[in-house]
Formats: sequence, C-alpha cells, structure tokens
Amino acid sequence: LVGGTASASLAGRRVVITAGPTREPIDPVRYISNHSSGKMGYALAAAARAAGAEVVLVSGPVAVAAPAGVEVRGIMTAQDMLEEAGRAVDEGCDLFIATAAVADYRPDTFAGDKIKKSNESMNLSLVRNPDTLATIAGRSDAPFTVGFAAETRDVEHYALDKLARKKLNMIVANDVSAPGLGFNSDNNAVTVFWPQGREAIGPGPKAVLAQRLIALIADQLTDKAG
Ligand code: CTP
Ligand code: CA
Repeated sequence: LVGGTASASLAGRRVVITAGPTREPIDPVRYISNHSSGKMGYALAAAARAAGAEVVLVSGPVAVAAPAGVEVRGIMTAQDMLEEAGRAVDEGCDLFIATAAVADYRPDTFAGDKIKKSNESMNLSLVRNPDTLATIAGRSDAPFTVGFAAETRDVEHYALDKLARKKLNMIVANDVSAPGLGFNSDNNAVTVFWPQGREAIGPGPKAVLAQRLIALIADQLTDKAG
C-alpha cells in the first residue's frame, strides 16, 4: 500500500478474549461476584471477528448474546477462567485480550450445605485467586497481550503500573467512577497505553469503542509481528 495507512486487519489471527464477571461460590445458594455485564468483551469479540479473526470468548455468566461467528466457552470461577483461557491459548493464539472482571478473592472453603444464620455477625475467610492475564502474559510463548484496568482514582498511575508489572503489550484504562460509563453501561470512555504511546477513545457506545480499539491493537500487532 503506497502512502496510506489502511487499518490493519486481523485476518488469519486467532484471538482469545475473557469477558464478564466470575462467580465464587460460598455455599450451594450463594456466591461472591461483581457488576460486570460482559458488554465490552462481547463488543470486542464482535469487532475482532469483523476484522477477520477467529475468536474464542472465555466468558463468565452474562446476559449478552454471543456475537455471530464467535465461539463462547462459559466458565464460573476465576480458577475455571485460568484453566479455560490456558487451554484456548494452547490451541494457538496471536492476541489475548482480558476484559473480564475477575473476583480477586474466593471463599477459602465451600460449604456443602446451605449456611444457616446464627450470630449477629459472621466472617468469611477469603484467599487470593490466580491472575489469568498475568499468567498468560508470563508464558514463554505469550501472545500479544492486552489488559484492562478498572480504576476509580489515579487511573494513569495504576494503569501504567499494571502494564509493566503484568508484562503486557497494551492496557486499556477505564475510569469506573465516571457516571453513566463503564460497568453495566452501553457507553464507555477509555485511555489506551502502550510502551510507545497512548490514545484516548470515547466517550461513546461500546460497539464504536471496540472497533477503534481493535484497529489500534491490530496496528500494534502488525508492528510487533513485522
Ligand atoms: N485479571 C485477570 N485475573 C485476575 C485479576 C485480573 O485476568 N485474577 C485481569 C483483568 O481481566 C484485567 C486486568 O487483569 O484485564 C486488570 O484487572 P484489575 O482488577 O484492574 O487489576 P488487578 O491486577 O486485579 O488489581 P486491583 O484489582 O488490585 O486494582
Ligand atoms: Ca482486581
């Protein structure tokens, strides 16, 4: 192509995307989770598919329909997510995007029977969950990895810290304290950081943001792959 910057395509690329919340069971009727709707991850999956990629979505429980042509593999817990994402990457993966809102902790024991109420207060003991994104990015055969950072303050500081600490190629920072944006909303505004640059995208519909994000990622992926 002469004198132009056509937006890079993802034709022939295999893409794995995590999306939605995880659920960490306490007993047969209760769990710990969060407000993630999965909309951003599903919009990215649709945009990656439209750019020509083969897409696997590793998804927690959400109420969003699977995008046409995208394979959805459902999971419940953070531990399930680590296993299923690892399997999907083993099958071949050029690009890994983690949009999931993974529970950082899970109950340290699962009560086989429903817990009955007794005292005026109770304590739940929690243990740290594995980090799927950091695990995939740390592999010797790591694909190009893109993380998300949901923050309520010092957004740039924490995002850059996660980019470096998790050894990511890009991070998409999201100020979840902004009213009407982010979690559960159809709209979002993000700033993308990578080692050589940054770009603010939005505010706008998640579907439009997703297309721009995929174009930006495809450009960087092309640079890296040569
Ligand atoms: N992530 C993951 N597995 C986890 C936790 C996070 O794959 N157990 C991924 C998320 O999908 C996201 C990125 O890591 O792409 C950052 O998630 P976030 O919750 O913002 O960061 P944490 O590293 O968990 O740090 P903290 O919650 O303390 O800010
Ligand atoms: Ca977290």
